[in-house]
Amino acid sequence: MGIPDEEVAQVRAATDIVALISEHSLLKKSGRRWTGLCPFHTEKTPSFSVNAEEGFYYCFGCQASGDAISFVRAMDHLDFVDAVRFLADRAGITLHEDQEMGRDHKRRSEILDAMERAVTWYHERLLSAPDAGPARDYLRSRGYDGDIVRKFRLGWAPDDWDALAKALKLPEKVLSDSGLGFVNRRGRAQDFFRGRVLFPICDPSGRPIAMGGRILPARPGAAPPQRPEPKYKNSQESPVYTKRRTLYALNWAKQGVIERGEVVVCEGYTDVIGCFQAGVPWAVATCGTALGEEHFTLLRNFAKRIVLAYDADSAGQSATSRVYEWERKHEVDVVVADLPGGSDPGDLARTDPGALARAVKEARPFLQFRVDRLLAGGDLTTAEGRARAADAALAAVAEHPDDLVRDQYVMQLADVCRVDTTRLRQRLEHMRAYPGQTDRIGGVPGGARRHGRRTEDVPARDGRSSAAPAAPADPAAPAALRPGPGLEALKLAVHRPDDVADRVHAVLFTDSVQRQAFVALLENDSVHEAVENASPEVASLLRRVTVEEPMKGDPDLGDPVDSVVAVLLRGATRRAMAELERESRASAGDDQWQIRAGEAAQVRLWLDQLDDPSAGRDAADRLVIWLTERDRGE
Ligand code: GTP
Ligand code: MN
Repeated sequence: MGIPDEEVAQVRAATDIVALISEHSLLKKSGRRWTGLCPFHTEKTPSFSVNAEEGFYYCFGCQASGDAISFVRAMDHLDFVDAVRFLADRAGITLHEDQEMGRDHKRRSEILDAMERAVTWYHERLLSAPDAGPARDYLRSRGYDGDIVRKFRLGWAPDDWDALAKALKLPEKVLSDSGLGFVNRRGRAQDFFRGRVLFPICDPSGRPIAMGGRILPARPGAAPPQRPEPKYKNSQESPVYTKRRTLYALNWAKQGVIERGEVVVCEGYTDVIGCFQAGVPWAVATCGTALGEEHFTLLRNFAKRIVLAYDADSAGQSATSRVYEWERKHEVDVVVADLPGGSDPGDLARTDPGALARAVKEARPFLQFRVDRLLAGGDLTTAEGRARAADAALAAVAEHPDDLVRDQYVMQLADVCRVDTTRLRQRLEHMRAYPGQTDRIGGVPGGARRHGRRTEDVPARDGRSSAAPAAPADPAAPAALRPGPGLEALKLAVHRPDDVADRVHAVLFTDSVQRQAFVALLENDSVHEAVENASPEVASLLRRVTVEEPMKGDPDLGDPVDSVVAVLLRGATRRAMAELERESRASAGDDQWQIRAGEAAQVRLWLDQLDDPSAGRDAADRLVIWLTERDRGE
């Protein structure tokens, strides 16, 4: 926030990325790039690469990638602005953001003051106001005593339009910036929370930054409300509150988390409080978003083990493929507490607190939990049932990036389902080589779904889109990163742009990320700009190809541009031909058929001519035109 783009670019240009990274890892020059051990993960052979001219780094081991700014952010846990500031300082550049910074700081501290006063005011209302009687009854009925209410600073927002706004006399700007209220259509200050029990959300040092408010359950026999209200209403994001970086109760749990090196992650405020009551005071909750990257960045400083305590139905589905990625990247173990079906930690804390503490204690590795669930959902009493269950569980195992871990599970499955390990291993390799084809085989509910097909994240609860950022297909080898002609063509497009112009075309890429990366290179003036404007997935791919050398020419094999184009062209044409033949069969007998058959014959002819020294180039051009037209649906 606040630093103009030109200044950011200036800082980036003034930074010697090789010198910067050399402070953390020894880099050696190798061809046009620099290589060394990756500073982000432990390794013995160097897979970290830096392109000094473009200012990018990329790790072939953990896929960390970025520029000088993201390097500093990741290394020193800084946010963007602080990272730029750090680099500016290093390069002797003065940023002109000081004045603005001052304003920003003032605004934030006004909001924090308002939040603190509001939490205190609401809390006192809950403790003593006559109109808070039903709220006190409700909390008591949930098993919350005075200690709990005071520890978590619970509050009561009276069922009034503007009780808080009037009592605190906040300036309108602070009222609305903090999310505590807003100015209504008639120009009057109004409260955001009304008739709700409030759960203050604090930053790790305990300063309130937001609130969640729960309605009271309808009194038995009461008429249904005219407009049904959502169960929870949560503060909007503000200059002091970013949902994806906040964990509810971390301020209270921090001590316990550090002592145990473990943190329990729940879905709701009441789940966290339940954990504290059940003797598990190292619990936190996400705030209306799925557990994500930034939570791990926050937690990895405190905990090596992350226990997911979600209700049984959502536990196995959270962010499936990313969990393994996070485990590796942040060197943490993600385990799952197996709660009895249909209950969340909040419920369990009341009905059977011992069971909650036990479930946390006996939490199992994420994959074990999923495998167990898939097996439990199958019928292990019949031969067919066991085969199906093995298949479904194997599909989950196939998603794990570590082959030693996969093999452990193979042996387990072989045992439980009474199948031969060799057969299972073969099948597993097949699943990994052709992900996606496994979908039809598994017959167990919820099993054998391939990552990437649907959002595996926990559904967003606050009505916002649950479209989480697309997870990379497989952290070990996202399709776009697999070595092959597509990747090779991209390298050539970066390193020898003039040689591939007119030869490599977007339609030749079958992988959509590679295709987007290629189009980004075409549409932007520099690799840097292409990266800036691209999605994270595409940006990471582009950074990788900038640090990789393309294949060299060879007297026997000729220029790699020729062979790469030929392979891509044949591949793309074959796929299009197969499609055309399908259409052709479907239209057998009608008048389209003749046309399609003629088209297919022509394409086959061009394919045959590809190797012809005189007609080859022309045939290639025609095939590209044909592919482009088909791609556009012409
Ligand atoms: P109790 O019913 O009080 O036990 O709460 P819970 O935590 O069990 O509720 P639930 O599992 O339904 O929700 C978990 C979290 O999702 C809550 O803490 C809220 O942050 C959020 N949430 C739930 N319902 C809503 C809703 O209607 N609107 C919004 N914005 N968030 C909700
Ligand atoms: Mn609950």
